[in-house]
Order: sequence, then structure tokens, then C-alpha cells
Amino acid sequence: MATLADRILSVSRLSRAEAEHLRSLCRSWQVLADLSFSDLLLYVRSDDEDAFEICAQLRPFTSQTLYPQDLVGQRVTQPEQPIVERAFREGRVWAQADPVLVDGIPIRMDAVPVRYEDRVVGVVTKEGSPATSRRPGRMEQVYLDAAEHVSQMISAGRFPYPDTPAGDWPRVGDGLLTFDGSGSLTWASPNAVSSLRRLGLAQNVLGRELDELGLGQTPVNEALQTAKLLDGELSRGDTHVRLRVMPLLDGEQVVGALALARDISELRQKDRVISVKDATIREIHHRVKNNLQTIASLLRLQGRRVQSEEAKAALNESVVRIGSIALVHETLAENPQDVAEFGEVARRIGQMVGDGLVLPHQSVDVKVSGQAGALGADLATPLAVTLAELLQNAIEHAFPDDRPGTIKVELAREADDVIMIVWDDGVGMSTDALGGARLGLQIVRSLIDELGGTMRVAADDGTRVEVRVPALR
Ligand SMILES: Nc1ncnc2c1ncn2[C@@H]1O[C@H](COP(=O)(O)OP(=O)(O)OP(=O)(O)O)[C@@H](O)[C@H]1O
Ligand SMILES: [Mg+2]
Repeated sequence: MATLADRILSVSRLSRAEAEHLRSLCRSWQVLADLSFSDLLLYVRSDDEDAFEICAQLRPFTSQTLYPQDLVGQRVTQPEQPIVERAFREGRVWAQADPVLVDGIPIRMDAVPVRYEDRVVGVVTKEGSPATSRRPGRMEQVYLDAAEHVSQMISAGRFPYPDTPAGDWPRVGDGLLTFDGSGSLTWASPNAVSSLRRLGLAQNVLGRELDELGLGQTPVNEALQTAKLLDGELSRGDTHVRLRVMPLLDGEQVVGALALARDISELRQKDRVISVKDATIREIHHRVKNNLQTIASLLRLQGRRVQSEEAKAALNESVVRIGSIALVHETLAENPQDVAEFGEVARRIGQMVGDGLVLPHQSVDVKVSGQAGALGADLATPLAVTLAELLQNAIEHAFPDDRPGTIKVELAREADDVIMIVWDDGVGMSTDALGGARLGLQIVRSLIDELGGTMRVAADDGTRVEVRVPALR
């Protein structure tokens, strides 16, 4: 999918850096839409220079949209949108003197030039219905004043902030605090007041600094000093309020700050529940692994005691089969979310089979490469057993008479398939061996059938077995 910057580059003459600036503006501009109760449209000068094209559109959460329809891709010319052209040409914020009627609704429109370095690279219009703000209350007035600041910063090339931290923006509606240039709290929105109450602050906090309230260090002062957007948190007990502090600039001067405040206690609580569940699942995998290892060592002991070579071999093979299942659980126990990177499991199985079955006088190397992606136990377990069987076969049958060799395991993920290739440079598998398969290949075949996968065996220059199973079922 083309990014916004790509789309801008394809319709305008802007440079990559300029287009990226507009893209990063559009990652931050919800706050402007919400503070100004307006729809926002981003206009970019078209490459033939006689029109503007709308490249992005945003609706406010704080008021009804004027534009339920999608406007992106529309072109407008100078006579249709004179103030867009003027803002672009003069590099100043232009406000329409009087509301215009569009479909019978009065609409007020401001045009804000977007500056990047020394150039105006686009225009943002704020379009809202003044009916909602005929006699603005205190909250509306604070919002509109803040919006005015942000608009001026956009036209001065100061918004979006450089180095905006990753992570989504809290919304204006989650809670808004305003500060003067010395860091004193000047206003708090009703939702912000409720959050402060939940943090245990019943008294009036206006006129004080956040850091004095005993809720931990906040980045307000640092944001005022460095003019950078900073994230922080207020917390007490189980209540956590995330803060995003936006310094407001007038020219070079920091004149105050806004903080968007979002109560994230519920989220934290959910995270905690999930992580407890996760730990429980991992503990269970750990125990299953221990139990399987106990079974394997019992069989190993028994294998040492029996006299018949055939019985010994059968018991040893079972040890490897059970051991490979144990390795899946071991890997799952180490990973969150009940999935394991199968490449990791395969490397461990390669090691186990190599250590356990290659005899001292044999010189056979086992190499595992590639990744198959994160798989759940339902897929990883049969694949692990399959791999163990195929490796056992290669070690037992491909290199008779101390013939040296290499066994390669290659893993890959192709669209929705997991591919596992086990390849040895030994004597090669005879075709009748395939037909009259004994237990090993029979197990493999029935596991792969059950997964809805396929197995292909080729025997030239050794044996190559390719297993392909759907990863999503
Ligand atoms: N990599 C290989 N190279 C050469 N021959 C092979 C290879 N893999 C399998 N074979 C042949 O195919 C036969 C069938 O393999 P299969 O795994 O089904 O049985 P097995 O290894 O003999 O016994 P087990 O049931 O213990 O696995 C083997 O006996 C062997 O002759
Ligand atoms: Mg076998």
C-alpha cells in the first residue's frame, strides 16, 4: 500500500523530506481537529501548479463532521478556494472573515500554511460550523486558544514536533490540562479533573505545579525548557494517568504547555491479567516438559537393561520421539503468547539428535538454517516429531560404513505454508524403502496427513525430503 508520502510525491513537486513532513503532520493532527472542533483537510500544490489537491482528511471527535464524504483526491483551483491559495502564497494563517453557507450550513474556514524549513509545502484548512461556538464557554475558549497556538506553530514549522515519541496520542477528550510558561496549572478539563480525583487529589490544583502534587515526576518542566514533546505518567496505587506534554511556542519562545491526559488504569489492569495468564501457560509447558523428560529417562534406563538389540533400538527411538515433543514444550515455556519460533525448536532437535545418535566413529554434521515463524503447539509438536524422525533416518541409514556427511535442515515460510526440507548427502533412499515404510515414515506420513500437508521425497545425491504444511488452519 502506498503511504501518504508516496501519494503526495505522485501528485506534487515536493521533495521526499517535504512529503515526509506532511505525513508526520498527519500523524499528529488529531489534536488540532479536536481543539478546533473542525474537519481538517490537507491541500498540496499539484505538479502543474494551477490547482491544489486534497491529500488527507481528518474528522474531529469533539464535534460533528461537516464532511461525511471522502474528499481525498479532489482538486480545487484558486477561484474555488481563494484563501488556500493566499495562505500558501503569503505563508500566513488566513481566517475567513464571515462564515459561508454550504448546503445551508454556515461554515467557518481557516487556512494554515504548513512550513518545512524555509518553504510552505502545503495548506491545512480547519472547517467547522460556528453554530457550536457562538458564545463559547470556558472550555471551548481554552480549546480554541490552544488550537490557535497549534495553527501558528504549523505555519512556523514548529508542529509536528521533531522526535515525537512513538505510541498513539491520547485524545483531547480523554482529558486536557493547560500550563502557563512557568509550569503552573491554569486549567483542567472535566475529564482531567476526574482523573486527578481518582489519583486522590480532591483539593484545587489550579495555580500549582504537577510535580508538587506528590504523584511522581512529570515531564512538564523539561518540556517547557527544551520545547520538546514529552510523555510521562501520574500514578498512585492502581491508578495511572498517561500524559503527553506539548509545549506551546510563540516564535522561539515557549509560552505554555498542554498536556493530554488519559487514564490507562483499566489497560494496565488488563495487561496484568494477560501477563498472569501467560505466566500460567508457560508454567504448564514447563511442567509438561519435565514430565516428558522423566518418561524419556525411564525409557532410557529400561533400554540399558534389555538384552535384545531390537528392543534397545526401539526404546531409544521412543526416547528421541518423546524428547522432541519435550523440546517443543521447553521452547513454548520460554516464549510469551503460547507460540514458539519453530526455527528455535528445530535447532534444539538438531542438537539433541546429533548428540544422541551420531556415534563417536561417525562424522556427520547437522545444520539447521532459516525460520518458519512463530507456531503454536498444535503445529509445532507434529512438525518436531517429523523432524526428529527424518533426522534419525538420515543418521541411521544415509551414512553406512562410517561414510562422512552433512544433514541440512532448511526452514521457510511461504505465504501460508511452513516448509521444512531435510536433506542429506548420503547413499540415497531406495524407492522400495518408501513403499514398505516401517514405523518411522508411517508416523511422519500420518502426522503430515493430519495437518493437511504434503511430503515429497527425492533421491539423487542423497535424500531430500520436503514437507509442506499450511500454517493457518
Ligand atoms: N535418509 C535416508 N537415506 C537412506 N535411506 C533411508 C533414509 N531414510 C529412510 N531410509 C530408508 O527407508 C526405510 C524406512 O524408514 P523408516 O523410518 O520408515 O523405518 P526405519 O528407520 O527403518 O525404522 P524406524 O521405524 O525405527 O524409523 C529405512 O529402513 C531406510 O532403508
Ligand atoms: Mg526411521
